[in-house]
Amino acid sequence: MADLVHLARQDDIAVITIDNPPVNALSPGVPEGIEALLHQAAGDSHVHAIVVIGAGQTFIAGADIREFAKIVSGERPRISLHPFLNAIEDCPRPVVMAIHGTAFGGGLETAMAGHYRVIAPDAQVGQPEVKLGLIPGAGGTQRLPRLAGIAKALEMCAGGQPISAPEALDLGIADRLIEGSLLEGAISFAREIAAMPVRKTRDRNEKLANAPAPLFGFAREKTRKLARGMTAPLAAIDAVEAATRLPFDEGCRREAELFDQCLYSSQSRALIHAFFGERTVAKVPGLPKDVQPAEIARAAVIGAGTMGGGIAMTFANAGIPVIVKETAADALGRGMSTIRGNYAKTAAKGRISSADVEQRLSRITPQLTYDGFDQADIIVEAVFENTSVKKQVFAEIGRIAKPGCILASNTSSLNIDEIAAATGRPEMVVGTHFFSPAHVMRLLEVVRGRETAPRVIATAMALGKKLGKIAVLAGNCPGFIGNRMVGPYLREAQFLVEEGASVEQVNQALYDFGMAMGPLAMDDMAGLDIGWAIRKEFARFEKPGVRRPRLPDILCELRRFGQKSGRGWSLYDADRKSSPDPELAALAEKAAREVGVQRRTILDEEIVDRCIYALVNEGARILEDGIALRAVDIDITYIYGYGLPAWRGGPMFYADTVGLANVLTRIRELEKIHGPDLWSPAPLLERLANESRTFTDFDKLKANS
Ligand code: 3HC
Ligand code: NAI
Repeated sequence: MADLVHLARQDDIAVITIDNPPVNALSPGVPEGIEALLHQAAGDSHVHAIVVIGAGQTFIAGADIREFAKIVSGERPRISLHPFLNAIEDCPRPVVMAIHGTAFGGGLETAMAGHYRVIAPDAQVGQPEVKLGLIPGAGGTQRLPRLAGIAKALEMCAGGQPISAPEALDLGIADRLIEGSLLEGAISFAREIAAMPVRKTRDRNEKLANAPAPLFGFAREKTRKLARGMTAPLAAIDAVEAATRLPFDEGCRREAELFDQCLYSSQSRALIHAFFGERTVAKVPGLPKDVQPAEIARAAVIGAGTMGGGIAMTFANAGIPVIVKETAADALGRGMSTIRGNYAKTAAKGRISSADVEQRLSRITPQLTYDGFDQADIIVEAVFENTSVKKQVFAEIGRIAKPGCILASNTSSLNIDEIAAATGRPEMVVGTHFFSPAHVMRLLEVVRGRETAPRVIATAMALGKKLGKIAVLAGNCPGFIGNRMVGPYLREAQFLVEEGASVEQVNQALYDFGMAMGPLAMDDMAGLDIGWAIRKEFARFEKPGVRRPRLPDILCELRRFGQKSGRGWSLYDADRKSSPDPELAALAEKAAREVGVQRRTILDEEIVDRCIYALVNEGARILEDGIALRAVDIDITYIYGYGLPAWRGGPMFYADTVGLANVLTRIRELEKIHGPDLWSPAPLLERLANESRTFTDFDKLKANS
């Protein structure tokens, strides 16, 4: 305990420092330590006021998230933080909380129990618990509306977004902004207020009055749209509403009931899995410890099409100057005007200033030559998805790039080793598979080739973080992790339409499952021609006699390529808004006749099972093949690249929650109906199910081996 929290005295001011790296979480021992030292300081007659501050990079970043699983499993009792926070509030000496870094969750709740708060200008405060499927559980929903008002408390507790220090000051969450040394500022502030009576947040009820009646209704309506399918944000609204109706202690009891409901929910387990997963994927086992990522100060991109333009913006947004090369002036002009248009839209939404737009544009140099490519630290190729075109480009850059330059391909499915062989320096080649739109989507799949050097992998992973992406390492196989899995997922969606489901039913069933969009809507957005080209490229590997979807080929033969051509699985207007296509049913019947399929009524449950279990089964094979390092890498790939909701935890975690034995039983039923070529269970899935284990167990075993 003594190690986690320290007490020192600066004349008449006691300073309690929380020292629990990396983020000063309220792990067991921390609240007890603070409380004991507060008691000690308050009992010292020389102490006139007390400052509580965090050591290292931050004030308290919240409860210790690792503890929640232990509470749910019964390994540890759930300990209420209320007595601790009330003890702070009841301290007879004024307590000043000195906030820097991030006072999040239980961190902000602790700060609000202090009598005063001072804050560093770049600090942030927030109640992000909903992102973990929880609500504030230590009085946040009761104290925050008393300080910041009901509307802001609703927004912060239900939305989970942090606010800046100046905003916290405006709202009354903080009492003073401290430029320069936070500790010195906090101590002099403490001296100023030392003689004043203590103010308890729980008694400050003035901001609770006069909440307009419809406020909570509006908040619920907005939340149902913005956090579709999530339960915690609605519970957070209920808890804040309780603050307006109940005395403080009763409000806290209501908050605790709602917190417990969230804590024991599968959504919370899934979101906590995703929180740690996001951090786990950055760790690459097996990379030599002394490998340091290279610095990326200059970049070049080849191709200014859909992906090249977005990738160039991503570099420019991160402050890295980038050259963009095209083959012809008109393609380059189109690419640059799309980039300008994208920035203008972002500026119009108020997310960046016009000065930011100019600065970012000034970092992008459009050109038709390889001039300056010999200065680049990384070259990212984003030309057509065709192996021979890519090989030619890589042969060219292999000749001109400086030694140490990383040669990266944005291919979404092609063989990295084949491309690398064209360069004469395959150890420098890596896949950097950005997702569309590249300046928006968070996922970056880093693809390791047979000869990719460890330093190149470390650099690509670190670059991902610098670009604001979540980088997941994948092995080299057709489609890597993401698109390899999406193959069977889309295949099932397409089969289902041939078998009798409507396009709208398939899309809606997966949307209701929580996906950001239905599979066929996604297909239309990506462009049906892309799948068509890939099917042609990989046709030579396909086993004869195995059923393949016929309908997407029929659509492509009719030049129905999706959104870009105004019709694909659905019809699209000029604003790319979709509507059902009355001709599609006839085309589906034609496809069914050609492949000899009997059309029938299909239930939504079958749609979800077939699409999601196709993902799970392929995911298990990907794990077995070593293409993904861990099951959680697959989960993070799907959450950040394919719109699977984080509250499902990813496809593999979802399968764990259903129970792998149940998943296996359903896959065996599907195997009986559709044949082993499409549905034989992955051996790893069978093994784990037979051993009553989960994919999470698989990851743990692997980490410990
Ligand atoms: N508990 C336990 N571990 C935590 C943690 C927490 N609250 N917050 C961060 N960590 C761990 C991370 O897992 C990571 O561990 P690793 O190095 O082993 O991978 C390490 O701390 C550093 O974290 P980041 O890599 O995320 O560091 P950053 O500097 O990028 O970000 C941060 C720091 C902004 C604090 C970010 O970690 C964060 O947002 N943390 C979560 C904050 C949060 O959700 N707090 C609420 C918790 S729930 C709660 O308080 C309930 C209460 O109401 C009762
Ligand atoms: P695109 O067709 O929009 O753009 C390709 C661009 O490359 C064209 O503008 C073309 O003129 C240019 N180009 C071709 N050869 C060139 C050369 N030798 N030098 C310079 N420029 C050249 O294609 P898109 O969609 O941007 O795809 C690019 C790559 O990204 C492909 O490998 C694709 O598989 C991959 N990808 C595509 C995604 C998508 O959703 N569109 C998603 C993820 C990856």
